[in-house]
Amino acid sequence: MKRTILVTGGAGFIGSHLVRLFVNKYPEYNIINLDKLTYAGNLANLVDVEKKENYTFEKGDIVDAEYIYKLFKKYNFDAVIHLAAESHVDRSIEFPNDFIYTNIVGTANLLNAAKDLWKSNFAGKRFYHVSTDEVYGSLGEEGFFFETTSYAPKSPYSASKASSDHLVRAYNNTYGLPVVVSNCSNNYGSHQFPEKLIPLFINNIKSNRPLPVYGKGLNIRDWLWVEDHARAIDVIFHNGADGETYNIGGHNEWTNLSLIKLLCKIMDKKLHRSEGESEKLISYVTDRAGHDLRYAIDSTKLQKELGWKPSLQFEEGLEKTVQWYLDNIDWLENVTSGEYQKYYDKMYVGR
Ligand code: NAD
Ligand code: TYD
Repeated sequence: MKRTILVTGGAGFIGSHLVRLFVNKYPEYNIINLDKLTYAGNLANLVDVEKKENYTFEKGDIVDAEYIYKLFKKYNFDAVIHLAAESHVDRSIEFPNDFIYTNIVGTANLLNAAKDLWKSNFAGKRFYHVSTDEVYGSLGEEGFFFETTSYAPKSPYSASKASSDHLVRAYNNTYGLPVVVSNCSNNYGSHQFPEKLIPLFINNIKSNRPLPVYGKGLNIRDWLWVEDHARAIDVIFHNGADGETYNIGGHNEWTNLSLIKLLCKIMDKKLHRSEGESEKLISYVTDRAGHDLRYAIDSTKLQKELGWKPSLQFEEGLEKTVQWYLDNIDWLENVTSGEYQKYYDKMYVGR
């Protein structure tokens, strides 16, 4: 079936993996990638698909409602897969309004355009909203996040994503907009901007810089290979039911410290350092304000109803991830020069 699909945020980490998957797997779809190209958006992430006939890039801002309407009129989209967002918790603590505008107002603008321009016939249309497990808040030592878990976001980032999730569901309930939502755990893999834990620490180990561990390093995250997330979005986009929510995660919980130690071990081998050398870079710094203790996703619904399951063990995925960054030093250097360097100094020097 021919379809014109708007992917927002396709030049970012997860978006670029999703665009690559869809452009290659579905030559009959037209994929329009709308991205503002903030510090986190990088067209170098998509060089391998940029010349494909079924791929088009549009530079634009989802906060600009008029522009979004024009784009919907220009392409007459059949579906939206919405990933564009400000996505880093530490930045949300420093600059909360950027998150409020992009994540809440930007999502509302997309919903309004879809509602108004599709309303004569919603049949065959789909608005897919990509969200995070962080909307559920923080777990103690026990338990999991289910699709039915009440929202309790605790950072400006997670609160802005929670707001956008509520808006998406409200447009389904109020206007009948055909929506689907997924909430995924922490992703890792290639092309992730090196401000997030794993690529930041790979970059720092490579350059012999300190590894800033927040607090005692005992916070727990549930890690999923980014290509498994993209495959889950594919499955939910095609087979998920209208109005439903699906949790995505691979039951793969690690304390930050045990993850960092594993990463150091892999890096020691890859860089031909003696065992234990990279671990010496660990440096405990002031904890993140309001730091969520633990996230853990139960994805039974997705696995049972739609047959998705993760493909990779974490050790293998982490090793592949490290190899990708070491093979793509130019990519790392390009994205960490200039403005990012100033941000890094502000956030970490003297912390
Ligand atoms: P990212 O920061 O790597 O990429 C975000 C992309 O959105 C960038 O290309 C950026 O240029 C673009 N963007 C930002 N503001 C925009 C605006 N106003 N208009 C248009 N484009 C804009 O983020 P990511 O890690 O790839 O996350 C993608 C989505 O997945 C987000 O919605 C995030 O909340 C969600 N998510 C992320 C994770 C994770 O672990 N990274 C986990 C679960 C869910
Ligand atoms: P991050 O990659 O920012 O993802 P999120 O906060 O969305 O889960 O951080 C993952 C974990 O690593 C989180 O508990 C915070 C911690 N962390 C550090 O200890 N040091 C760092 O420099 C960063 C960026 C994160």
